[in-house]
Amino acid sequence: MRVPAILFPSDPLNARRPDPHFAWEARLLRELGGDHALVDHDALLAGDMGEAVRRVPEGRGPLWYRGWMIPSAAYSAFAEALARRGGTLLTSPAGYASAHELPGWYPVFEGATPPSVWLPGAPADRAELAAAAGRLGGRGPAIVKDYVKSRKHEWAEACFVPDLADLPALERVVARFVELQGEFLSGGVVLRRYEDFARADLGPLGGESGSVQPDSGAQRDSTAQGGNAGAGEGQAGEARVWWLDGEPVLSGPHPDTPGHCPEPDLTAVRPLVRALGCRFVTTDLALRTDGSGWRVVEVGDGQVSDLPHGIDAAPLLTSLIAA
Ligand SMILES: Nc1ncnc2c1ncn2[C@@H]1O[C@H](COP(=O)(O)OP(=O)(O)O)[C@@H](O)[C@H]1O
Ligand SMILES: [Mg+2]
Repeated sequence: MRVPAILFPSDPLNARRPDPHFAWEARLLRELGGDHALVDHDALLAGDMGEAVRRVPEGRGPLWYRGWMIPSAAYSAFAEALARRGGTLLTSPAGYASAHELPGWYPVFEGATPPSVWLPGAPADRAELAAAAGRLGGRGPAIVKDYVKSRKHEWAEACFVPDLADLPALERVVARFVELQGEFLSGGVVLRRYEDFARADLGPLGGESGSVQPDSGAQRDSTAQGGNAGAGEGQAGEARVWWLDGEPVLSGPHPDTPGHCPEPDLTAVRPLVRALGCRFVTTDLALRTDGSGWRVVEVGDGQVSDLPHGIDAAPLLTSLIAA
């Protein structure tokens, strides 16, 4: 079987070059003896799959993707367009959706991640939201996100809910979240119980829940582009662990806190990653301040998780092209 190639997004200003955000990965891949091809992310999002994959050589065989986030439906069409050219994405559309969207991975990680409930879209009315809050215990602090992303930059306004019992406040935060996500709302609204995590530089955080923080996800849209402003005050000290075929191939800082590199205990996470059954995923892990250990903050598809600059990505890329 051929060695997998890696697809990167092309530079919107020069289709023959990798997008500047991924250029260092493409360069490192070449140094490691790997092969890459370019895809047009804008064409992909516009649904023009023929154009999106035009630069991928015919009959290229096994492929990984490393690029901006892609909605799950578009990923399916992307996989089909590549298959028509004789290319096979090594993460199937079903596998992509399971790792990328919280309802896909949550059932496997339940108990190791903050308790969560979700609605299939924006809440239709207050009763629907109240019922969801009720399923989460109906009281205490929570955070709001969609199936894929939060608005953590707008923490007080569109992410953090001080008390689920305060329905008008919950409704306000969710409505603002939905408004700010706009057409980028992925799936539906998720409510998660808030847990206190150790912060990046300040050590364990007390009971208070302050402001958080810039982003991490490789998502090229109005919500996240250029959002990697570094660690905000109160940034949870997450580690991002990269898994291939159930083995951790790279463990490093979260892209929001590139200088902070906790070393998580993976004993409990490893069997969960294996149970998920997706070949290439990331887990973001944070340490609880109550002494109960490491928690999975979120799971992601490894193809669209951001790699912090400065990390030695050679072990990851070497594993991908050996897979
Ligand atoms: N249940 C939670 N309890 C406490 N903090 C949380 C919780 N969920 C998320 N956070 C904080 O909010 C940030 C963003 O949440 P996350 O689920 O990672 O969304 P995103 O996909 O936008 O990165 C996390 O990095 C973490 O600091
Ligand atoms: Mg995150």
